Amino acid sequence: MIPFADTHVHLLAGLDDGPPTADVALAMCRMLVTEGARHATALAHQNPGYPANTADHLRSAAAALAATLGVKKIPLSVYPTGEVMLSANTLDEWRSGMLMSVGDHKQWLLVEMPYSGFLDAMPLAEALKPEGVRLIIAHAERYPELLDDLALAQKWIEAGCLLQVTAHALAEPWEQNFELALKRWAKGGFIHLLGSDGHGIDRRRPVLALGFGRLAKWVGRSRAEQIAGVWGTAVLQGNPVTVPAPQPGGHSWFSRLFGE
Ligand SMILES: [Fe+2]
Repeated sequence: MIPFADTHVHLLAGLDDGPPTADVALAMCRMLVTEGARHATALAHQNPGYPANTADHLRSAAAALAATLGVKKIPLSVYPTGEVMLSANTLDEWRSGMLMSVGDHKQWLLVEMPYSGFLDAMPLAEALKPEGVRLIIAHAERYPELLDDLALAQKWIEAGCLLQVTAHALAEPWEQNFELALKRWAKGGFIHLLGSDGHGIDRRRPVLALGFGRLAKWVGRSRAEQIAGVWGTAVLQGNPVTVPAPQPGGHSWFSRLFGE
């Protein structure tokens, strides 16, 4: 079994709406290990609601967490990461050094949509491409504009974006149409990374294993391990990731024949 990489978990105590204390953060880390993870983002929001969350602040908080994990002998490697809220200023903020890339490798920016609505990620993806930076769309399943529009999702992927899906959504999709859309994404190769979006230990816990199980049922164990482990680890460690082009038709001749 390949160790999982949680590409979206809030672990920086007191920096955002994630763990309020270092003890809760450590409990989350222990839980992630139990879930099968060995790599995880030490992530906090970067948006106007958290102006103190500069790249430097996230960098030093993640280093402190890594040191504590070492002392406590908790086998989890953590990688500083900002969850960046897209805005008209994102490119300027990136260029000014305010934003923390995934793992501080300056290869991937983890972005979420603003509260005000859904933005086109293409202009930013195209602007960052010459700098060797690509986008990861955080909890991409939250956006019906993307989930239900395979052509748009394909266009973003072709522009270099990766789509991250929340393990809990896979494990317990809250309605049938949502589950069907996730399954269509999974089978069509639109899901690249798994995240728990864990925020605490009493609520929004960092769970991965059940979501992985659902993914494995839909796409087979080996592809599920690529998503939950191989690609996620590569992203966190700053190694190259090449994903196959999505297949909007989504289904092999075998699955079409047998209706899987
Ligand atoms: Fe988040």
